[in-house]
Amino acid sequence: MLNVRTALKNGIAQLREANVSSFTLAAELLLLHVLGRNRTWLYAHPEEIIADADAQRFFELLARRAAGEPTQHLTGKQEFWGLEFEVTPDVLIPRPETEHVIEVALDRLALRELRAGRPQKSAGEGLQIADIGTGSGCIAIALAKELPAANFVATDISPAALAAAKRNAQRHAVDNRIHFIECNLLEAFPVGAQQAAAQPGKIPNSAPEPGFHESRLNSPLATRHSPLSFDLIASNPPYIGRREAPTLPREVREHEPASALFGGEEGYELYADLIAQSAPHLKPGGLLVLELGHNSLPAVHPLLDAKDWTNVGITNDLAGIPRIIAAERL
Ligand SMILES: C[S@@+](CC[C@H](N)C(=O)[O-])C[C@H]1O[C@@H](n2cnc3c(N)ncnc32)[C@H](O)[C@@H]1O
Repeated sequence: MLNVRTALKNGIAQLREANVSSFTLAAELLLLHVLGRNRTWLYAHPEEIIADADAQRFFELLARRAAGEPTQHLTGKQEFWGLEFEVTPDVLIPRPETEHVIEVALDRLALRELRAGRPQKSAGEGLQIADIGTGSGCIAIALAKELPAANFVATDISPAALAAAKRNAQRHAVDNRIHFIECNLLEAFPVGAQQAAAQPGKIPNSAPEPGFHESRLNSPLATRHSPLSFDLIASNPPYIGRREAPTLPREVREHEPASALFGGEEGYELYADLIAQSAPHLKPGGLLVLELGHNSLPAVHPLLDAKDWTNVGITNDLAGIPRIIAAERL
């Protein structure tokens, strides 16, 4: 017969022994998951006896965690921006530093409203927002909760990630405002039609433009005849260099999807295409907000040139690393 206190103590010792990072938190989360309880309950009931089946399940999960599986894959969830997200091995586990994408995007949007003489705190009426490489959907969904009147498009090359993102959007009741599209960066969005639409009186060609995958863009938000341009494009692209792979923690290297981690040999390779493809899809004054890898800034900053972009700003994360670059489309 095992009580809560002893189970937790044994679990912590087992994970410490296996050199698991944040071993106390990991043991707590696994026990809470097995018992279906919250942390307050856990510490208020140290003498509670755990059913044998629960104890067995807890020790199975501890063994998998000790062998390198991320805690979030064992519990199936991770909190981001105060919301709980379903996490599977098909998506990147949302990271706390990505919350800076949300902060910067909301700050920049509020500033735009202020400059336009509108109330800073808006529900995002009329805003069209894109999240490129949506993974679990955490960026699009967090923004959708903050901007309940905005509409979203979220892309990913991974159909399995998009399926998880859709479930997360349903869980947070924002699925009616996020259109999920399987595509490479922004390639599914027609540039030609959009540029034509930007010129008053010019009607987009009725023939589909090359590269326009109409079947994938079967959206109420965007059709060939009502082209889509965005107020905000946000992205946390894959940005780790393949040559850094051996230095990654085992949890990351062996369990998170390579397509979510690696941006190329150096890591920053995707930014050039992402920025080049974003430019024609932003309204004048539209915002681009990108998460950066720890060494991406020198490669990415020069891509936001004065021909297309203004008000380029960099935000450090809590560790002092330049983590977000944001810019406004001229
Ligand atoms: C670093 S993860 C970010 C996931 C999520 N946005 C987050 O912040 O947690 C990058 C995501 O981009 C997707 N991805 C990788 N290359 C892509 C591409 N060329 N076009 C669209 N998505 C891509 C991956 O499948 C992955 O889901």
